Amino acid sequence: MFIIQITPELAPVAKVGGLADVVFGLSNELEIRGNHVEIILPKYDCLRYDHIWGLCETYNDLWVPWYGGAIHCTVYFGFVHGRKCFFIEPHSADNFFNRGCIYGFNDDVMRFAFFTRAAMEFLWKSGKNPEIIHCHDWQTALAPVFLFEIYKFLGMTHPRVCFTIHNFKHQGVTGAQLLHATGLNRPEYYFHYDRLQDNFNPHALNLMKGGVVYSNFVTTVSPRHASEAKDQGQGFGLEPTLHIHHVKYGGVVNGVDYNVWNPEIDRYLPYHFGLDNIDDKYKNKKALRDRLMIADNEKPIVAFVGRLDPQKGLELIRHAIFYTLHRRGQFVLLGSSPDGQINSYFWSLKHQLNDNPDCHIEIGFNEELSHLIYAGADIMLVPSQFEPCGLTQLIAMRYGTIPVVREVGGLADTVFDKDYSYKPLHERNGYVFKNYDYSGLESALGRALSCYYDYPEHFRELMKNAMRYDFSWKNPGQDYLNIYDYIREK
Ligand code: ADP
Ligand code: GLC
Repeated sequence: MFIIQITPELAPVAKVGGLADVVFGLSNELEIRGNHVEIILPKYDCLRYDHIWGLCETYNDLWVPWYGGAIHCTVYFGFVHGRKCFFIEPHSADNFFNRGCIYGFNDDVMRFAFFTRAAMEFLWKSGKNPEIIHCHDWQTALAPVFLFEIYKFLGMTHPRVCFTIHNFKHQGVTGAQLLHATGLNRPEYYFHYDRLQDNFNPHALNLMKGGVVYSNFVTTVSPRHASEAKDQGQGFGLEPTLHIHHVKYGGVVNGVDYNVWNPEIDRYLPYHFGLDNIDDKYKNKKALRDRLMIADNEKPIVAFVGRLDPQKGLELIRHAIFYTLHRRGQFVLLGSSPDGQINSYFWSLKHQLNDNPDCHIEIGFNEELSHLIYAGADIMLVPSQFEPCGLTQLIAMRYGTIPVVREVGGLADTVFDKDYSYKPLHERNGYVFKNYDYSGLESALGRALSCYYDYPEHFRELMKNAMRYDFSWKNPGQDYLNIYDYIREK
């Protein structure tokens, strides 16, 4: 099957969060299964060019309709760890993708609406006729709108569209200028409850809603979150739209790319380890402590790796730091946020804890350090308010690091409590708490720390259970292929 991925992120060249990992891992799996995958993304100035091979100009005559005129774009081709990628570079005064980072600008909706239109124009002009277009999050949600409202009439009748929602919180809400800009010319038609009109504000357009309405299939990244978003108020206003379109909506738990995230071959680790030599994990723990200059003692390391977004449970993370230190543990945090206020909050926490030899707070994005943390920590904390899937708990488990998570979204679908799960003992792999409050957190983290100290052999069994789980792309890859097949036949 010929599949095109249109995406704002791709690991490792343009990564902000899990979406980047997902597009790379899924594309790999689809190729391994004999499909042909091509990935289209913006040519950001901040791409990690050291991970792109053979980058060259491939199409220099792309004129993308915009505000009644057209913007000239160059399309580059290159391989990202074996995957075929096209990078679109617009030559416009707006400098859409030369901003030093991927998101965080007032005109983000326009930047990505332009990118999506450019990607579709490129497919059409270059004569590509994929069977499937798979687009991701609000940034590329207009792909099916452009396909079915513009390109279908120009002869592009082949593709079916799968739209994956990684995060309902950000939907790309904007005003009527979107229509002038992109050439979707009939305001009265698009400002309609059944099309792009925002469910809260009748004078606004909602790109994510457009993606749901126009796609042939819509997924989010775990079955639990699929129902939370539709039925339990976690759809950020899209609940009625999901209800209307429920027959083409479902959840697929993300996979982890075990070529990248695997302690037996991880190129960032000083010591490789696996189920047969788990003890070598502790050499990485020592290396992590040396690197972060925290004390070398008998204590367990609790870690958090992630975006410092309210979604991730910031007050519980802060509480967990002090609770862990109080319970004779060490805490390592790696995170960053585009929000200056949140960043300075964590900077001041860092200063407050500067002299504590059992704590390290690292603010910033650091891929290499994240690998060492997954390997060197004992416990990985994910106390999210909501979590569509979550990759950090899945990665941690592969590295024998026990997840302590809130029972929500993909966390609930993948982590099974050591003491309370309905699963057989050998399938329990972490600690889970329900209520989003300090005592909920303490109930799970406290049990994990007690087990580490008081029942080390049980803790070891739990580590082995977690490491044995298969969260690779094998199953989700097949699920997506089934979805692609299903929509092709319709
Ligand atoms: P989200 O997509 O909501 O950010 P996920 O758990 O799905 O959360 O994925 C997060 C991904 O981003 C993981 O691969 C994690 O290791 C990585 N990551 C997040 N923050 C950082 C950081 N500050 N430095 C390095 N990697 C990070
Ligand atoms: C989102 C979600 C996260 C998910 C990731 C990849 O950003 O917050 O839960 O794992 O996308 O799908």
